[in-house]
Amino acid sequence: MWRFRYVWDNIEAMIRNKTVLLGVTGSIAAYKAVDLASKLVQAGANVDVVMTRCATEFVTPLSFTSITHRPTVTDMFEVPDDFEIEHIALAQRANVVVIAPATANIIARLAAGIADDMLTCAVLATRAPVILAPAMNVNMWENRITQENLTRLRARGFKMVEPVTGPLACGSQGKGRLADVEDILTVISQALRAKTDLAGKRVVVSAGGTQEPIDPVRYVGNRSSGKMGFALAEAARDRAAEVTLITAPTALDDPIGVTVVRVDTTLQMRDAIARAAARADVLIMAAAPADFRPAAVSGSKIKKESTARMDLHLVPNPDIISEVRGNLIKVGFAAESEDLVRNATAKLKKKSLDLIVANNITEAQSGFGTDTNKVTLIDSRGKIEALPLLPKSEVAHKVLDKVVALLSAGPTNQGRNGRRK
Ligand code: CTP
Repeated sequence: MWRFRYVWDNIEAMIRNKTVLLGVTGSIAAYKAVDLASKLVQAGANVDVVMTRCATEFVTPLSFTSITHRPTVTDMFEVPDDFEIEHIALAQRANVVVIAPATANIIARLAAGIADDMLTCAVLATRAPVILAPAMNVNMWENRITQENLTRLRARGFKMVEPVTGPLACGSQGKGRLADVEDILTVISQALRAKTDLAGKRVVVSAGGTQEPIDPVRYVGNRSSGKMGFALAEAARDRAAEVTLITAPTALDDPIGVTVVRVDTTLQMRDAIARAAARADVLIMAAAPADFRPAAVSGSKIKKESTARMDLHLVPNPDIISEVRGNLIKVGFAAESEDLVRNATAKLKKKSLDLIVANNITEAQSGFGTDTNKVTLIDSRGKIEALPLLPKSEVAHKVLDKVVALLSAGPTNQGRNGRRK
């Protein structure tokens, strides 16, 4: 539930006052499109619904009209009198077109460029991004014809919200269920985000607190929730970056549209980051890698009767971000409880960073586990910018605004960072 609330901030900001053309086609999942329309309206969108004839067999147009307060269009030749609209106008005023659920039939018709009803005409006539959220029987989904059609549409720039695996209406199990409404909303807000200022850039983000095993059951860990790193990965993705998220264990689901690498320990994170950073333009270390790990890990569970007291001998872990060298922008975080700017500036220099995001973990609503953060951005030229308390999603965009500026200004830590430029 929290995940949806978390995504909701982004969604509302992107969708408000936008016009969404929602195409509904003939699948049992059509009833879920009513929920999608409702959430879009709640987020402040103007929603035009176009239903195929088959879709009206599953849900009534009135269900959508009641929610959108706009006429629901069902056929090219039966447009309501009081609603002067035709497919070109619908197509032109849409900021985004989303077809949910999208059947194998509509996918095939779109792939062939057929325009024989209101929805297919509108899709052909629009210049807005088009998103398809397919839903169908697993065999229809896996059929090579469907997959070839999807490949063709992807190559033409159509965006997909892949169906998920689970029990299907036909009684079988497999991939074919309509994606969660919140995932569809995420992709819609992504498509609407005007900024594509990280297009062509590879961004690596780390998140979460690493876990250093003591035995197969116990570990040394910390209180990092991973929320800031996940927010950064999603924000970079929304700005068109190619994102790799390297995360220690968290309770968070994989963000869609991001390559996720899950690790447990600081040593594993170091290896994953070294691999990903070798071809990255930006590294953002929002993770809290454990600074120390147990010197020896017991292969079996340590029984409490076996020892009167337990001493942990810890050895230092490598400092991951300091080890990364190359032609990339390095952004670190500094979690401090005192002397915020002085301590963070010292870390920025010591670790050869281009930017450090400093937060005072003792402040209310700021730090571990919260959905908000109050940070100060300090760059390697000594520029300091204190931000107010903001949702982590907004903090993420502020950090990325700085990253974009740093990318266009060129490397600032050339010598220390060993850059080749
Ligand atoms: N970091 C890292 N490797 C580590 C520890 C930290 O790359 N082994 C990164 C963090 O991801 C963060 C930055 O270094 O971007 C600063 O982390 P922080 O925990 O604030 O500082 P430390 O260097 O660990 O120093 P201290 O714990 O003494 O404050």
